[in-house]
Amino acid sequence: MTGKNYEAWDVKESDYPADGSMEERLKFLLRYAILAPSGPNTQPWKFAIHGGSISVFADLGRALPFVDPSNRTLYMSVGCAIANLAVAGAHFGFAPGVSYFPDGQESDLVAEVQLSPGRRPVDGQKGLFSQIQRRHTTKDRYENATIEPFILKELERNISLPGLYLTYLSDKDSKDKMADLVSRAHQTQLAKKEFRHNLGKWLRSNWTTEPDGMPLYTFGVPDALSLGFPAAFKEFDLSRPVIYRDSGLIHDCSTLAVLTTDQDDRLTWTMCGFALENLLLQATVYDVRASFFSQPIGLPILREELKARINRGHPQLIFSLGMAKPMRPSPRRPLEDVIIKRS
Ligand SMILES: Cc1cc2nc3c(=O)[nH]c(=O)nc-3n(C[C@H](O)[C@H](O)[C@H](O)COP(=O)(O)O)c2cc1C
Repeated sequence: MTGKNYEAWDVKESDYPADGSMEERLKFLLRYAILAPSGPNTQPWKFAIHGGSISVFADLGRALPFVDPSNRTLYMSVGCAIANLAVAGAHFGFAPGVSYFPDGQESDLVAEVQLSPGRRPVDGQKGLFSQIQRRHTTKDRYENATIEPFILKELERNISLPGLYLTYLSDKDSKDKMADLVSRAHQTQLAKKEFRHNLGKWLRSNWTTEPDGMPLYTFGVPDALSLGFPAAFKEFDLSRPVIYRDSGLIHDCSTLAVLTTDQDDRLTWTMCGFALENLLLQATVYDVRASFFSQPIGLPILREELKARINRGHPQLIFSLGMAKPMRPSPRRPLEDVIIKRS
């Protein structure tokens, strides 16, 4: 992978400054936090290091008001970054303790992550740590393979937080119904110019030098087509090809999964992201990868329909799981851009 916007992926465990200052060591852990997934790769996080802890902030300047009006996806993404930070911290011998929204849920401060030193690395965490650089979202296609039931059971254990539930759906009827729900969401949303402009702003050509957003190669769009695609997406309703792609990712996956919760607030969304990223890292151990379908959850009517179908609380995310080959990662912002001084 070439280009400055991909350099974040080159982090090497052997570069850990074991004899460096606390600040240098915690800064190194953040190199793993920023490899987390985020809804349209906005990377909506900021970090401040002070003493033995890291403050994690939501960067609301990166919100998508028409695509994610409640910022659900944004907070889930921040939760994913916190998960990577905790996994990396444990790997390098810290005992991470996460305190969510210490100043209340109206504050941009999402979490204080306390990293107490002195513990020996935990082997179990090492398994997940080595997956941080291997994980990526699959947006193109799955191989024709079924995920072993023991793997699904293992993945489910990551959703062990109280009030969080994971429902697997793998029968044909459920896949048909879910594909239909996702199609209707695309039809409604992509008919709206504001939505297309908001999301289209984060689509990138295959030669992107931007540090964020979604390069179109991740969707399997050929190089030549990728140049004009973002402008065309903003201008025209391209719901047909989008629905075609998502239908494939739903029908050809091994299983669909829906994350639901008892509560529906920023804390819940952040914790959902934390659990989700642990699940994704665990899945990567087995070369199981995921594709996400946030769209029906962003539309109240379709979310209610899904809620009635799953009947286990508020739906937060639909995703599919399947075996997929590794592919080019997506760009990341340089660490310097996301570290702030705490006022
Ligand atoms: C909470 C959350 C929601 C997401 N929703 C979608 C989605 O609806 N559609 C989609 O194609 N990708 C979705 N993604 C995947 C992101 O686009 C992806 O993480 C980002 O482009 C970075 O790529 P990577 O995961 O391969 O590193 C979502 C990711 C997160 C964390």
